[in-house]
Amino acid sequence: MYNEFDLDKIDIDIDSEPPTEEPFRQYYFMAKCRDWVRAFEQKNGRCPTAFTQTFGCQMNARDSEKLMGILTEIGFCETEDENADFVLYNTCTVRENANQRVYGRLGYLSTLKKKNPSMLIALCGCMMQEPDVVAKIRKSYRFVDIIFGTHNIFRLAELMWRRLDEGKTAVDIWEDTSLIVEELPSERKYPFKSGVNIMFGCNNFCSYCIVPYVRGRERSRKPEDIVSEIRRLSASGVVEVMLLGQNVNSYGKTLDTPVTFAGLLRQVESVEGIRRIRFMTSHPKDLSDELIGAMAASKKVCRHLHLPVQSGSSRILKAMNRRYTKEQYLELVGRIRAAMPDISLTTDIIVGFPGETEEDFQETLDVVRQVGFDSAFTFIYSKRTGTPAAAMEDQVPEDVVKDRFDRLLKEVQDISARVCARDLHRVKDVLAESVDDHSAGYVTGRLDNNTIVHFPGDASLIGSIVPVYLEESRGFYYMGRMVSDGDRIQD
Ligand code: 5AD
Ligand code: SF4
Repeated sequence: MYNEFDLDKIDIDIDSEPPTEEPFRQYYFMAKCRDWVRAFEQKNGRCPTAFTQTFGCQMNARDSEKLMGILTEIGFCETEDENADFVLYNTCTVRENANQRVYGRLGYLSTLKKKNPSMLIALCGCMMQEPDVVAKIRKSYRFVDIIFGTHNIFRLAELMWRRLDEGKTAVDIWEDTSLIVEELPSERKYPFKSGVNIMFGCNNFCSYCIVPYVRGRERSRKPEDIVSEIRRLSASGVVEVMLLGQNVNSYGKTLDTPVTFAGLLRQVESVEGIRRIRFMTSHPKDLSDELIGAMAASKKVCRHLHLPVQSGSSRILKAMNRRYTKEQYLELVGRIRAAMPDISLTTDIIVGFPGETEEDFQETLDVVRQVGFDSAFTFIYSKRTGTPAAAMEDQVPEDVVKDRFDRLLKEVQDISARVCARDLHRVKDVLAESVDDHSAGYVTGRLDNNTIVHFPGDASLIGSIVPVYLEESRGFYYMGRMVSDGDRIQD
């Protein structure tokens, strides 16, 4: 995170030179852009507005908080509306439909920009790491002002300045990086919980997945940097942290002094004020007994594991390059459950991977039934250019995939409605997260296993952990009522 740094003290005179070292170089450009903001304010009598939209995963959501932190530091006022002076899309490319959504939104933005020609439009994130995408945007969406990728989001101010100064599209895509820039501002979406990056990139190369190509090689942040960020978060009122990485189970392997993920969890556990620790995502092949032990021994690590299985067929898993079999996955689930019987397990499943037969699909259904996932994100296989699976023969016909997808979804939903009710009529701790959108007088919170609970309450509860009696299970969530601390002890 970011120590207050006085941008107004930086020398940004016309003949000044930007520092070469980070993060000081970015502070310099933030100060330059802040000057521009002041001129805008004088001219328009208001601060320029900024809007960010995140597509994709939690990593992107966290990146967007950092990008908004830089924009706020520069002097932009955040708005919920795309009709803004600065619009930034943080894109995702994991499946083709994510790309299509971005192109669709860009069409809309071009109409807004016609009405407000000084509007700045920026695109960043995973989609921008694909050369074909950048070429298409430069050719067909020429109104886009700034384009950057996943490795250099810390450079937003520098790129904005370049665009303002030179008056032409600023494009900056890095193929890969070993750089991790600390000490930049960040704007948090929730005051009481926060994502914390512990590592970037992925080395697994699952054969369907584009992530290793767009997020680069695995690199871990130093444990001391992570812990001091979490200390600062705790001091500012955060009670729950989500440790983020594509494959947290291989955390620390590339550090000068290697640390295991279980070791990191123990260090995070010792931070006072933090009550809940979550993490994602775990790759089954790297999930160690040491981690299971550390989770089971911990009072703060939530009883929830997101453990993507992707397929139940060992044959397909091999073609996916997942490096575990169906049996190994089930055996791992057995070990986890033996250590933590109340744990909630969630997963990701892909349907229609090239060559998937009905028998393979039945194996997937079998794993779903045997494990009894609390929930599963189900995806239709999407062909990503450049990945090994895109060149595989036997792509499964669309109607067959759709039929399997529907059957899988039904199975997943039936099971999850049953499994999620496991704590019915118990008193459990709930972190109150938001005022209910649908029913007045209610708040929405989460159990430590991530299940949602609605219960009567008001905004004053947001951010606190309170005991709630789980009165009724409605499939994926509970209706409950708050009780006193004494009731919790009888549970
Ligand atoms: N097609 C469909 N789903 C995919 N995922 C990753 N790549 C693809 C793809 N090409 C899914 C995986 C992963 C989740 C984040 O997205 O299930 O775990
Ligand atoms: Fe993609 Fe596999 Fe890496 Fe996950 S572990 S990001 S699915 S390559």
